[in-house]
Amino acid sequence: MAVLPLVDRRDPVLREKARRVSSFGPSLQRLIDNMFETMRHEHGVGLAANQVGSHLRIAVIGIPRQEEGEEDTTDTYVLINPEIVRRSGEREVDEGCLSIPGFRGKLQRSVKVVAKAQDRAGREYRLHAEGLLAQALEHETDHLNGTLYIDRMEAVEALRSPVLAGPEGQTPAAPHGTPDTETVWRMRRPAPPVIRRR
Ligand code: NI
Repeated sequence: MAVLPLVDRRDPVLREKARRVSSFGPSLQRLIDNMFETMRHEHGVGLAANQVGSHLRIAVIGIPRQEEGEEDTTDTYVLINPEIVRRSGEREVDEGCLSIPGFRGKLQRSVKVVAKAQDRAGREYRLHAEGLLAQALEHETDHLNGTLYIDRMEAVEALRSPVLAGPEGQTPAAPHGTPDTETVWRMRRPAPPVIRRR
């Protein structure tokens, strides 16, 4: 397995709609493994293939399970050709993205989602999710449609750079040359609203 380089936040591949996967051969398996390796290396909870320069509709998610008295475990999900088929409820979340390191922002996400996808063998499945998993599913399927979380934010004031971020320790380290908030905000392309069932 290998850690793949993340594309720059300005790379056009982040703004493209990814293409459906139809071949589940060895090269796909290798890409999935490398995406997991990259996600862990970068301490992310999810990664979409276009973040590592692939045009394919693939996302991986790894949600840490926090149960008292248990070893640290992570629930992992492989999502090929994922699609959110139902969303309900609305909640404010605090979110970041490996493609925009050093920033976090507040936006509205669904409370619950149902997604359909294929696993790494091509078998279709449905995933009923809430909380962080639902948030990650919305974030990663957005990526595969060329949408970034800043596109779903309503005001620049809700975007924080690391110096303003506070002590929660969830902000990725700011690499050399981290842009200012206005520069990141100018990358924004307002996204179509999501339709939620109450
Ligand atoms: Ni992201």
